[in-house]
Amino acid sequence: APAQLTVSKLGSRIGARIDGVRLGGDLAPETVAGIRTALLEHKVVFFRGQDHLDDDAQIAFGELLGPLTTAHPTVNTGSARVLALKATKGMAANSWHTDVTFVDRIPAFSVLRGVTIPEYGGSTVWANTVTAYETLPPQLKALVDDLWAIHTNDYDYANHYSEEGEANTQFSRSEFASTVYQTEHPVVRVHPETGERSLLLGHFVKNFVGFNAKESAALYNLLQDRVTKLENTVRWTWAAGDVAIWDNRATQHYAVADFDTQLREVRRITVQGPVPVSVDG
Ligand code: SIN
Repeated sequence: APAQLTVSKLGSRIGARIDGVRLGGDLAPETVAGIRTALLEHKVVFFRGQDHLDDDAQIAFGELLGPLTTAHPTVNTGSARVLALKATKGMAANSWHTDVTFVDRIPAFSVLRGVTIPEYGGSTVWANTVTAYETLPPQLKALVDDLWAIHTNDYDYANHYSEEGEANTQFSRSEFASTVYQTEHPVVRVHPETGERSLLLGHFVKNFVGFNAKESAALYNLLQDRVTKLENTVRWTWAAGDVAIWDNRATQHYAVADFDTQLREVRRITVQGPVPVSVDG
């Protein structure tokens, strides 16, 4: 029978908690549809108490949202589908980003499961890139509507990780320095399911097409300030067994590296998405 989902908003612009469901590969289609609707509306949804999940059950659940991608295009994960993000000090994800934007087909959804959660610190923050676009002044919308950005995994990550540079060891090296990917995406993408326009930026952006590095940085910061404005975000304090699902076509996120040397392990799968479409189609 379909689950009785309770959806509770966590802020005005982004985030909801969903209660009343035990996640797995055996959910009724109505339950999956209810989760998907909440996800498209709130951009990131959270579930508590999903301790029963292991990698296989997480995969089986994820497949209800669509076919999965490989675990990661460049990181050697030891698993076909699951990316383990395991850290005892900092991590490569403590910088604002949308997952894997340096490939043509950016994942549609990410499903992240909390496995080992530190006693303090290690929360994650998400930002709504649709409301960030919608609240731009019309003159800035006109500028970005036909702007394109070059995304690469080969950017200078010292720019993003000045304080924690040393901590970003293996993951950074494999994500950022093995096979180099580079692709152009529209800065404003039209969401394939909701039709909403969003800002497609994040730490893999190298520069804007037609703008030099200095100009790109100025414009990037101007737009990115809108994305990361606190009222445009939601912060989740993890417990083991929590699951977060985000719409990677409408969000950025930041994993806060404030847990000292405690172990933190979260495990992520991603659902395939299409090539982003600009406002010109
Ligand atoms: C990610 O960037 O997908 C990981 C987020 C996290 O570790 O909280």
